[in-house]
Amino acid sequence: MAAARKSMHGEWSSRWIFILAATGSAVGLGNIWRFPYVTGENGGGAFVLVYLACVAFVGIPILAAEILLGRRGRQSPINTMRVLADDEGLSSRWAYVGWMGVVAGFLILSFYSVVAGWSLAYIFYVAGGVFNDATIADSQGEFHQLTGSVARLTLWHAAFMAMTMFVVARGVSGGLEKAVKLLMPALFSILLVIVGYSLTTGDAAAGLRYLFEPDFSKINGATILAALGQAFFSLSLGMGSIMVYGSYLPKDVSIAQTSIIVGCADTVVALLAGIAIFPIVFGYGLEPGQGPGLVFITLTIAFGHMPGGQFFGALFFILLTVAAWTSAISILEPVVAWLVESARWSRLKASLIGGVSAWLLGIGSLLSFNYWEDFTPGGRNFFDWAEFISTTILLPLGGMLVAIFAGWRLSLASSMDEFGTGPSVGYRTWLGLILFVAPLGVAIVFAEGTGLRRAVGSFLAAVSTALFS
Ligand code: PHE
Repeated sequence: MAAARKSMHGEWSSRWIFILAATGSAVGLGNIWRFPYVTGENGGGAFVLVYLACVAFVGIPILAAEILLGRRGRQSPINTMRVLADDEGLSSRWAYVGWMGVVAGFLILSFYSVVAGWSLAYIFYVAGGVFNDATIADSQGEFHQLTGSVARLTLWHAAFMAMTMFVVARGVSGGLEKAVKLLMPALFSILLVIVGYSLTTGDAAAGLRYLFEPDFSKINGATILAALGQAFFSLSLGMGSIMVYGSYLPKDVSIAQTSIIVGCADTVVALLAGIAIFPIVFGYGLEPGQGPGLVFITLTIAFGHMPGGQFFGALFFILLTVAAWTSAISILEPVVAWLVESARWSRLKASLIGGVSAWLLGIGSLLSFNYWEDFTPGGRNFFDWAEFISTTILLPLGGMLVAIFAGWRLSLASSMDEFGTGPSVGYRTWLGLILFVAPLGVAIVFAEGTGLRRAVGSFLAAVSTALFS
């Protein structure tokens, strides 16, 4: 019976630990590095508004669906999808959703570790006083010096990947729980300090206007697709991270409540990061749409000028690194869990081989900032392609399939049993969102954002034939 399954990898010791771990997975570079710069590239307020709608109507329901499926299957995403499909008498091809997640996970981990490596390097730069009284030119120069040096980038990328493999190799309670308990609250507090500084010394009015005053002329299919991709990335959805964490969740915990808590915490951190960054951007006359260097260039100027900036700055990058760490762990975990289950490898071997493969792939992203900078087939360099394919294409697609599976293929009896509230208002709201809003929302945004209306149409037709035949 499904309800009696146990995970061979262990279980979280409490509901709070799960919330912390899932928040640890969600909160990371996506909130503090990616959200501000993607907002900057997409014109500000209107993007933020669309982002919030994506989180509320598509993200949180799929978050709940992933926890639900994971807890019911109690295995790595590939095997969970397979056993659940089997339980319901469906095709074992649903396991492909898990496979897609593995591909997305490798791509994400590869560039994620490169950027996390920057954050690791910055701890030492800031602590060493490199940015004291820095001008914009100094701050930009320092960033380009780092990203221009293949040797340094490779080293930091390797250091970060080693940290990630280390924790994943130690397993659920030994490694993961300890890391998140203390560090998440600390990150939140330091972010508040920086927000306070930024609002009082930067151009608060311009920053807040940029973030919260929507200019709808800046919205088009591509912006909405970017917002959707960002929502999936930031909430760790569409590739099995939350599903695998859900597989370690005790049975009596409320899925609805935990999903809402995790979704809100993640969103608050992203907004705080925006409020920390944009007043400084406008105060110093910087360009909001400058891309991946945004956070590293703006915040270091602030640290270079605020009292105690060397200390607060180093602390900030320590916490950012840790936030990235708890996310990277959750990106590696689904693959490792699968290798342990299916190939019978030890956790150590699985973590090493998984991590080193992603590290090698990451070299491509790392070279995109120097030697391969001008190698841009189709208008994107290697880094941009890895990010685009994983975040903007694979995650929304994976999430949509999860929604279709949880809503349309899993029996209502199963999903209600796992939800645990009977046919409550909460359950019915979730079901409505997961049946209609999430899959259709993703499909429409996809069709508009990629210009592939016909392809998306035929894909949907194929899915519905598969579903209803
Ligand atoms: N959510 C993480 C972040 O915002 C990144 C991530 C993506 C983690 C996908 C797991 C899966 O940094």
